[in-house]
Amino acid sequence: MSQIIFCILRLLDDGEFHSGVLLARQLQCSRAKISKALKDVDVLGIDLTKLCGRGYRWENPVLWLNANSIFRDFGINSKFFDLKIFDFVDSTNNFLLSDLEKKQSNIDRIPVAIAELQTNGRGRLGRSWYSGLGDSLTFSLRWRFEHGISALSGLSLVIGVAIIRVLKSFSINNVSLKWPNDILFYHQKLAGVLIELRGEIFGPSYAVIGIGINFKLSGIIKSSIEQKVIDLFTITGERMDRNLILGALLSELRNILTDFEKQGFTYFREEWISYHAYEGKAVYLTLPNSAVIEGIVDGVSDDGALCLITNTGRSSYTAGDVSVRLK
Ligand code: BTN
Repeated sequence: MSQIIFCILRLLDDGEFHSGVLLARQLQCSRAKISKALKDVDVLGIDLTKLCGRGYRWENPVLWLNANSIFRDFGINSKFFDLKIFDFVDSTNNFLLSDLEKKQSNIDRIPVAIAELQTNGRGRLGRSWYSGLGDSLTFSLRWRFEHGISALSGLSLVIGVAIIRVLKSFSINNVSLKWPNDILFYHQKLAGVLIELRGEIFGPSYAVIGIGINFKLSGIIKSSIEQKVIDLFTITGERMDRNLILGALLSELRNILTDFEKQGFTYFREEWISYHAYEGKAVYLTLPNSAVIEGIVDGVSDDGALCLITNTGRSSYTAGDVSVRLK
């Protein structure tokens, strides 16, 4: 991936034709360099028309991320956040993790990394997270806790609650959670959360909270994903602005993380259960050792473990590499 592609795309984002000559002049490079860069854009899921004598036209331009729009409508006091917007990065989680190792963390502001494109997005359980240029909201936020890591059970469930609250505030209803924090729309995956923890037993500790929300996935991306997925465009029929949803999410995450730090997961338990897609349903639970448990979902415990009524009684299963599916 090279930066020049993004420079060209920013000139093409008006949806008009631009000649190679003009693009080269504007970017002070050769025409050959422009045409070479644009040869590779197919992999980004970009629909580019090339017409002899007229030049290039970008048919599905991206609504770019920008800090002013992110902080515009939701009364966020932007000084709380240290925002870094990447055109491309391997993974926003990777960036915030390595940034933590490199330097003394600035404890006054909440670091947030957002990307137009992740080249190596990561999901839970070692899976990949696929998204194309501008077709998803992919970002990570790092939160510093005074407690040690052991006090953070339930955190991943609380993040699911924050996302559901925000989606509902945009009138996106019928969204639900699959334990621990997949966001579903009628059993199809709309968003996912990857939380990675670092720190000392007695604190402080850090959570890098990575969130991916599908906005308008291209056919290429959809076909790379094994499970059933859906995006906001399919749900609403509108091209929603990632900036507005991100602004609302940052505001909600800051509130919810502050409450979680004070009150723990118990405070959110009933709300989480009310969003659970499989509450009271018969499910299979595949454990990390591949053993499969059958049971009826009976809420979650105070530390966010999934509770099942099985043949042998009521048991709870902690966060980690456990998967749930409808019986
Ligand atoms: C999952 O459901 O498996 C979790 C997906 C998490 C994806 C997000 S996108 C932003 C952040 N950076 C990553 O590499 N992954 C998370």
